[in-house]
Amino acid sequence: MKPTLKWIARILGGLVVVLLIAGFTMFMIGGSNAGKTYELPDVVLNVSDDSSSVAHGAHLANTLGCTDCHAEDLSGQELFDAPPFRVVAPNLTPAGLGGQRTDAQLEHTIRHGVAGDGTSVIIMPSAAFHGLADEDVSALISYIRSVSPIENNPGTTEIKLMGKLLSVGPFDPGFEVNLDASPTAKPEAGITSEYGAYLFGTVCHYCHGENGQGMEVPPIPESPPAPSLAAAGNWPLDQFISTIRTGVTPAGRQIDNDFMPFEVFGQMTDAELAALHAYAATF
Ligand code: HEC
Ligand code: HEC
Repeated sequence: MKPTLKWIARILGGLVVVLLIAGFTMFMIGGSNAGKTYELPDVVLNVSDDSSSVAHGAHLANTLGCTDCHAEDLSGQELFDAPPFRVVAPNLTPAGLGGQRTDAQLEHTIRHGVAGDGTSVIIMPSAAFHGLADEDVSALISYIRSVSPIENNPGTTEIKLMGKLLSVGPFDPGFEVNLDASPTAKPEAGITSEYGAYLFGTVCHYCHGENGQGMEVPPIPESPPAPSLAAAGNWPLDQFISTIRTGVTPAGRQIDNDFMPFEVFGQMTDAELAALHAYAATF
């Protein structure tokens, strides 16, 4: 499966625009946000080597796209290389960056967009994952701790070096940062609109809007807007599920995986997709 370009392109499109309009003078006055660090409390997590927790974490890592970007075995990979930009999803196994980060630091990154060194992450879509409840982020970390160490050094993201310039344009290096507290508990899993709303808030909202109202996915001119899911909520359930699994809508239109990563979300269980459908039906 090739990594989902949209998540990356969303940011990079902004960078290109900034470079074109900003010019070198901006470099001299920039720097206000670049290198800024953030303070976060360490929440109490329940990280364990319990097999059900690890299995749930593995499922989340697949359905939230962690394995899409950080590679199937979490050993990291280069996602984009078009000088001067280079985007690398780091090695999260114990032999890589994962081995250098505490559980609290991983939580800060996943839900709040703050990297282990206290600066903001870029490209890593933490703003999508802010709504994960304690139990789910704990399971994800349990999974990360369980994977085999793999010696692989894919390098580092090189946009950061240009942070001074970028921090003064429309590109905001704090884009993914959300310091608000995340949910401590999640609704009981089931085919309910309430659970669907929870799942929606752990990833879909990032593109489809906070309340599923749909939105432009700026600033990529070639991206279609992410529509409101009101129409999809009225599709028969089996057609909703097959759309997310195959990317083909009931009208026979093929959705582009680069913009709507259905290959990632298609790995959700029937029950999870049914809950999302139940939620969309409330729009
Ligand atoms: C769209 C691609 C993408 C997805 C999806 C993604 N990541 Fe990342 N991740 C990145 C990139 C790129 C970086 C490097 C960011 C940087 O250097 O600022 C990163 C960095 C990280 C880091 C290291 C932060 C540090 O301390 O420097 C962790 C931990 C991490 N990701 C975990 C996850 C987890 C867990 C998931 C799934 C819930 C996930 N990522 C999903 C692209 C992604
Ligand atoms: C990275 C951005 C992104 C994320 C995250 C995302 N979507 Fe989408 N989605 C899109 C875009 C863009 C389209 C429009 C694609 C097209 O028309 O080719 C779309 C289209 C759809 C459609 C087709 C709607 C229609 O009426 O044609 C459905 C259904 C859908 N998304 C469901 C979901 C669900 C459920 C989630 C969460 C599990 C989700 N999406 C997460 C970007 C995203």
